[in-house]
Amino acid sequence: MSALFQPFKLKDVTLRNRIAIPPMCQYMATDGVVNDWHRVHYPALARGGAGLVVVEATAVSPEGRITPACLGLWNDAQADALAPIAASIKAAGAVPGIQIGHAGRKASANRPWEGDDHLAADDARGWETLSPSAIAFGANLPRVPREMTLEDIARVRADFVAAARRARDAGFEWLELHFAHGYLGQSFFSVYANRREDAYGGSLENRSRFLLETLAAVREVWPENLPLTARFGVIEYDGRDEETLAESIELTRKLKREGLDLLSVSVGFSTPEANIPWAPAFLVPIAGQVRRGAALPVASAWGIDKPSIAEASVRDGRLDLVMVGRAHLANPHWPLQAARAVGVERPTWVLPAPYAHWLERYRVE
Ligand SMILES: Cc1cc2nc3c(=O)[nH]c(=O)nc-3n(C[C@H](O)[C@H](O)[C@H](O)COP(=O)(O)O)c2cc1C
Repeated sequence: MSALFQPFKLKDVTLRNRIAIPPMCQYMATDGVVNDWHRVHYPALARGGAGLVVVEATAVSPEGRITPACLGLWNDAQADALAPIAASIKAAGAVPGIQIGHAGRKASANRPWEGDDHLAADDARGWETLSPSAIAFGANLPRVPREMTLEDIARVRADFVAAARRARDAGFEWLELHFAHGYLGQSFFSVYANRREDAYGGSLENRSRFLLETLAAVREVWPENLPLTARFGVIEYDGRDEETLAESIELTRKLKREGLDLLSVSVGFSTPEANIPWAPAFLVPIAGQVRRGAALPVASAWGIDKPSIAEASVRDGRLDLVMVGRAHLANPHWPLQAARAVGVERPTWVLPAPYAHWLERYRVE
């Protein structure tokens, strides 16, 4: 019996299987609002059979966008336009999730296919970026951010809360706080980005404060019966890996006490100097360590697109959810192929009758 195709229950939400589509920015929005592209893209992914579809990084404030073409949830018009996307994911049988975040010092950038670097200082589309300290990421992202005041910190926390409320009202049933990938949340935790000398910098406790306070504030408005999750880079591959991982597990335990239901385990991407050991499913053992260490369900991504590896990662108790990103862009029906590859002839998810009727008789390879 396949482990990958067992349902997964978290709070009052049940995913039809352990396959999730991670957030993947489309960089196609105007003024943070979804358009026809998103209305095609998301239901197409959901229709393929994954249990969970997480909508791309959606900024909690204008300056929190990665690029001018990122989605936002800082006003009601953006939320109203997102509601049909949540409904369409649900109609296709998947649980609709969304990632909300703030890009911090990596904000104000070009789209990946237009340079993947900061917008030029004299580009009228650019904006002042915010970070715990006035330290640039470096390499292709040289813009020096403004050090956040305590008022900025309180305002961004309130922006997360307002965005979470709008996500809830738009019909999303799974919320992911983007605390990863060198963006704002990760930057508070990172010794590369955070040199503050106040209550938000220095010790592990202080570097964790923004994350814990933000999660706790969001928990107050996000329904208790729906999963509240976060994505966090537990390791930087900078030579301090054991120490960072131990600190990250400690942080995860504290986040759990504040109401975190699942951690999506990722890489920190806080320094351009990192030496990441890219290989298929390289992060799965690390995710397993976090799962055991914090006694919390975990998801993870990065090259887990071989069905046999996805299946083994769940069966061996290292992952609760397998996030399959780029392979879904290439083939939205990846779950159907994976089911066959691991020997599930009749996937346990409910195909709509008009399809199930024909798939019983006509096997498409
Ligand atoms: C086009 C694209 C956009 C992405 N956007 C996001 C994002 O919005 N938020 C995020 O946390 N990760 C983002 N990522 C990372 C993915 O969620 C995922 O971790 C990564 O693609 C590795 O998984 P994979 O090997 O299955 O593709 C993005 C990746 C891609 C390819």
